[in-house]
Amino acid sequence: MKATPSSPIGVFDSGIGGLTVVRALTRRLPHENIVYFGDTARVPYGPKSSQTVREYAAQDADFLLSKNIKLVVVACNTVSAVALDVVQKHAQVPVIGVIQPGAAAAAASTVKRRVGVIGTTGTILSNAHANILRLIDPTITVFATPCPLFVPLVEEGWIEHKATQLIAREYLFPLTLEKIDTLILGCTHYPLLMPLIGDVFHNNVTLIDPGEETANEVEATLDALKLRNPSTARPNLQFFVSDIPHKFTEIGERFLGHKLGRIQKVSL
Ligand code: DGL
Repeated sequence: MKATPSSPIGVFDSGIGGLTVVRALTRRLPHENIVYFGDTARVPYGPKSSQTVREYAAQDADFLLSKNIKLVVVACNTVSAVALDVVQKHAQVPVIGVIQPGAAAAAASTVKRRVGVIGTTGTILSNAHANILRLIDPTITVFATPCPLFVPLVEEGWIEHKATQLIAREYLFPLTLEKIDTLILGCTHYPLLMPLIGDVFHNNVTLIDPGEETANEVEATLDALKLRNPSTARPNLQFFVSDIPHKFTEIGERFLGHKLGRIQKVSL
């Protein structure tokens, strides 16, 4: 079946974190139908090998593609960093990851040509941001550091907690010495830590939320392909997960910013 403007946008992530991207999408494109898949049974992807993430990404994409979607958004930074080509190979519709939009926004923002990147271990080891930034502007220097403990801390809801402040200072101290003026929050969970991370840099650094930048790119792509949903009715948001872990709804609603509604468990 051919996708039409009223077909949903498919979004997937390793787990719940991608709901921050759904939140950005629904703000920018409030009438689009969305199908979300979160691989909550196998999360986290951040510490796993690229080979495993690539296998999982192919399965996640295949599930979404069975829903007659018009576009795929890879909300997971780790998947976007190491497996975007896998998803592109599986899809007959446009595929948008979160690395390119975040990197492009950072390149546009940096005046000192010094950009920081934080993300999961997998994302940072991939050098994906540095590779894209080099293509956009070879005069930009990239300083990257993994912050793996941010993921469980955010899921615990410790977004202003003293322990999180301490860990953030520890992780980010080397970046504070590098005179960066722009920092890419290269993980689905990190936008929830924006105020705390901003504090570590005395609010002297521009923080880039790749989810927001990705939503802008999705809008531009839909317009270019004349695939924007013309309906102004309330959109249909469907949420599929591979497991419903404890506290899923509570955590999910914190990421999404509103009620989740019905969640359906599926096996891949
Ligand atoms: N969604 C992942 C990302 O943005 C974070 C969680 C995980 O490690 O799976 O990289």
